[in-house]
Amino acid sequence: MPDAYRQLLDAAINHLQELQAQGVRSVSVSPETLAALDAKPRRPLPQKAAAPPAPLQPRSIPGPAPEAPKAAEATPVTALDLSLGLPGERAAAPAAPLDPEAKAAAFADLSRRAAACVKCPHLASSRKNVVFGVGSIHAELLFVGEAPGADEDEQGEPFVGKAGQLLTKIIQTTGLSRESVYIANILKCRPDTPGQSAGNRKPTAGEMATCIPYLHEQIDLIRPKAIVALGATAVEGLLGKTVGITRLRGNWRIYRGIPLMPTYHPAYLLRNQALSEKRKVWEDMLQVMEKLGMPISGKQRGFFTKP
Ligand code: URA
Repeated sequence: MPDAYRQLLDAAINHLQELQAQGVRSVSVSPETLAALDAKPRRPLPQKAAAPPAPLQPRSIPGPAPEAPKAAEATPVTALDLSLGLPGERAAAPAAPLDPEAKAAAFADLSRRAAACVKCPHLASSRKNVVFGVGSIHAELLFVGEAPGADEDEQGEPFVGKAGQLLTKIIQTTGLSRESVYIANILKCRPDTPGQSAGNRKPTAGEMATCIPYLHEQIDLIRPKAIVALGATAVEGLLGKTVGITRLRGNWRIYRGIPLMPTYHPAYLLRNQALSEKRKVWEDMLQVMEKLGMPISGKQRGFFTKP
């Protein structure tokens, strides 16, 4: 699927999901649009894998007809029932999955290309290591952070510093291991801090746009069932500037046809130790576990509800 089309589709889905989150149950679309959406190749909804995808249901809009804007008067509209699943949730997955050997070879090739990358000369000259990613290339769950910090640059592995150790704990609390998921960043190089001997800086929009094709290739090869975006910068790099992380977190989005859960960055939890903030991240993770069909114990459901 061409990237531009995929981005357009993701944007449309995300808009519909925002409406859905606000309680909107159906939207008006022209029959032509509905037919065009319905004609796209599909894959089953993640939660309803066994059931054949429901066709998009045109319905007459109940209640008094809304006042249509003048330009739209000539176009008949029907309602797209949002409760039946959004079209892009069934959007085509990128080609057929590769067999494990071919996948490993493609991943190794991608990693070699990233290791030799000099698209951002200032980052290429300041980095100690390209921090490509870590974990299983067959993972069902992918975590995406913003960029390597000093520890990660030193060790060539994402999320190994204090925030990374907390992320590992969060992963383990779900019952998964760090090795069974995949962890990557939008930027594969540490953002340089010229003139400073310590500290990190936020990656620029240009740096993220330059580097993100590597992440896209990682996503398309791994094909996880869910993605967790860690923190405002990662969310911005993936979805563009929308609303703040406080409003985005906890609500599913779609990214490259895959359900994406925005949540707070573990570094935020290190700065803000309030139980309520830990609980929010944990609630996001519970949603992710549900999406993956993981067992959830009563104890797990209750984590971070009382001191
Ligand atoms: N923060 C990130 O976003 N990524 C890392 O790899 C480490 C810290």
